[in-house]
Amino acid sequence: MTTAADETSVLPPTPGAPATSLAELQAREITAWFGDRKVLDRVSLTMPAGGITALIGPSGCGKSTFLRILNRMHELVPSAQLAGQVLLDGEDIYDPAKRLIDARRAIGMVFQKPNPFPAMSIRENVLAGLKLTGTKASRSSKDGLVESCLRKGGLWDEVKDRLDAPGGGLSGGQQQRLCIARSLAIKPRVLLMDEPCSALDPTSTRVIEETMKDLAREVTIVIVTHNMQQAARVSDQCAFFLASQGTPGVIVEHGDTAAMFQNPQDPRTSDYVHGRFG
Ligand SMILES: Nc1ncnc2c1ncn2[C@@H]1O[C@H](COP(=O)(O)OP(=O)(O)OP(=O)(O)O)[C@@H](O)[C@H]1O
Ligand SMILES: [Mg+2]
Repeated sequence: MTTAADETSVLPPTPGAPATSLAELQAREITAWFGDRKVLDRVSLTMPAGGITALIGPSGCGKSTFLRILNRMHELVPSAQLAGQVLLDGEDIYDPAKRLIDARRAIGMVFQKPNPFPAMSIRENVLAGLKLTGTKASRSSKDGLVESCLRKGGLWDEVKDRLDAPGGGLSGGQQQRLCIARSLAIKPRVLLMDEPCSALDPTSTRVIEETMKDLAREVTIVIVTHNMQQAARVSDQCAFFLASQGTPGVIVEHGDTAAMFQNPQDPRTSDYVHGRFG
């Protein structure tokens, strides 16, 4: 049944049109703990609006923790503590007056392992986030939304004839693009991606990289990757995290990706990007 309220809160009227203005994300002096253990120490980073920022660094240096802090998922871990600020267009998402749900809506997340709802149809998977965030949409706007999100996720042509087939029947690369489409349905202003291609073959990886570049026109993207070629191919900005010998993770160097790869300022960055450790 479609209600009057449904009709008034319609989601994107024009498929393909930019959702909202581009947003800058800024982390200021982020320190994070699990219990007594400090895992990040005063990490500051500006992730420019409409850019792709890559977070790189060896295993265990705090990249995923930092990413989870950017959309308030860190606080789901019972022992987790946090200090510092995360500003979305200048407003702290941790301000006590701000609602958790608003941060999660504005800042979406795609995980390492594709996690569609396997028994749900492709179409239902795309729309799943609307229910979780209490977003209403009419039936006709839902059709447009499914199409526009699957197009933006680079999956439409492969699934347009089987939207009612289960999401679990897609290949790994297709499932990851379905998860990207699902994240886009709630119109996030920032998309966080934690090693989104690490389980995928090179062809699927390239498709997702192309998708990311297209998406960056309307969503600010932050990606964690262990693949240096990928960081060099897709990102505009890069931040190198390091936690040496049991000390908390810090950013050793950050800046323009081409400069970081061609002319790193810190010898540790040079060693890492050239595959000499990590
Ligand atoms: N839920 C948790 N409880 C306790 N410690 C944790 C938890 N999650 C992460 N840690 C610790 O925090 C540190 C940073 O972990 P994190 O997962 O952020 O690293 P990472 O850089 O993403 O590593 P990888 O490249 O292997 O994914 C590690 O020492 C890890 O053991
Ligand atoms: Mg990680």
